Amino acid sequence: MSARVVIVFLKEVSSAIRPAFSDAPDLAHKATRPVVQGGMQWVGLPRLVAAVSNGGGLGIITALSQPSPAALRQAIKETRTLTDKPFGVNITLLPTINPPDYEGYARVAVEEGVRIFETAGNNPGPLIKFFKSQNCLVIHKCTTIRHAKSAEKLGVDVISIDGFECAGHPGEDDIGGLVLLARAADELKIPYIASGGIANGRGLASALAAGAAGVNMGTRFMCTVESAIHDNIKQKIVDSTERDTIHIFRTMRNTARVFKNKVALEVVALEARPGGAKFEDVQHLVSGQRGKLVYEKGDSDYGIWTAGITVGLINDIPTCKDLLERMEREAEDIIGQMNNMVVTKARL
Ligand SMILES: Cc1cc2nc3c(=O)[nH]c(=O)nc-3n(C[C@H](O)[C@H](O)[C@H](O)COP(=O)(O)O)c2cc1C
Repeated sequence: MSARVVIVFLKEVSSAIRPAFSDAPDLAHKATRPVVQGGMQWVGLPRLVAAVSNGGGLGIITALSQPSPAALRQAIKETRTLTDKPFGVNITLLPTINPPDYEGYARVAVEEGVRIFETAGNNPGPLIKFFKSQNCLVIHKCTTIRHAKSAEKLGVDVISIDGFECAGHPGEDDIGGLVLLARAADELKIPYIASGGIANGRGLASALAAGAAGVNMGTRFMCTVESAIHDNIKQKIVDSTERDTIHIFRTMRNTARVFKNKVALEVVALEARPGGAKFEDVQHLVSGQRGKLVYEKGDSDYGIWTAGITVGLINDIPTCKDLLERMEREAEDIIGQMNNMVVTKARL
């Protein structure tokens, strides 16, 4: 066990998590690796979530991948049959005209005994208030320091700070993880974890050096044995380089980093044409159902699918346990070697 890495996690994240477990087993004794698997639409399903938690990380079910709150209840029950370790639920607040039943998803998860939530998206205040009133731990994911500070004021326990490298929505400020983490160190009073661009022990060690209490990963966990996506897509990730993602929806100020395939290039071309494109012009290309079929059928060009630039760092398809153990070993080695860079000079 990596003493340094675990100590940082226990001191920082777990001390925030502990109150949420006052009447339940302490997460500090259960989640020993400072790695969170962030919410992933169509990917954050019970088998993966349980595998991450069983591997010592923190798995998170993606609520909106379930068609209804009742289905989320079943997914939570299924996850419980696969792990006795803590896991969380992600609720992502989408910019949509017909919002899903966020309250219903949140209520069901709390009723089922979930005590850790990852929130993301616009106007999270009411949801955060509800979770805090239920004595839950809230990890809020955001891409700017100003949003992180507002979330801190709203009472969240941990910030997950998502740099421009991340898969999915990086916001519109285009600030990379290194600067965001350095700003977080200066500005935030609560623990924060680093998200976006992390896929190995080097990333974990860097994040800890930058003052983060741990890391959040998405793309790396897509490409594991327990992830339910089609093997063709996992292989596509292994074969890709860091140049194989692209931003869509830039012109609509709802930027999303996705895999650079035929459909994504078509969307970007429509956005770039004279007069630009409205959402209605690209709706048929970007539908969530087409993206879901990419993962089910394994045709990487069929629809839009989310991926981050860590596709350039991913060269294999390990189990979550092997991945987490390897990351810990690598981070430990790097942190150990860095001690040698400090030369003690004699004063005389
Ligand atoms: C396939 C996929 C789907 C995602 N869906 C969501 C989502 O529904 N809600 C959310 O908050 N973040 C979502 N994310 C973002 C991740 O939780 C995480 O913040 C991001 O992947 C971190 O960047 P990384 O991929 O470089 O590790 C998704 C990421 C991926 C790869």
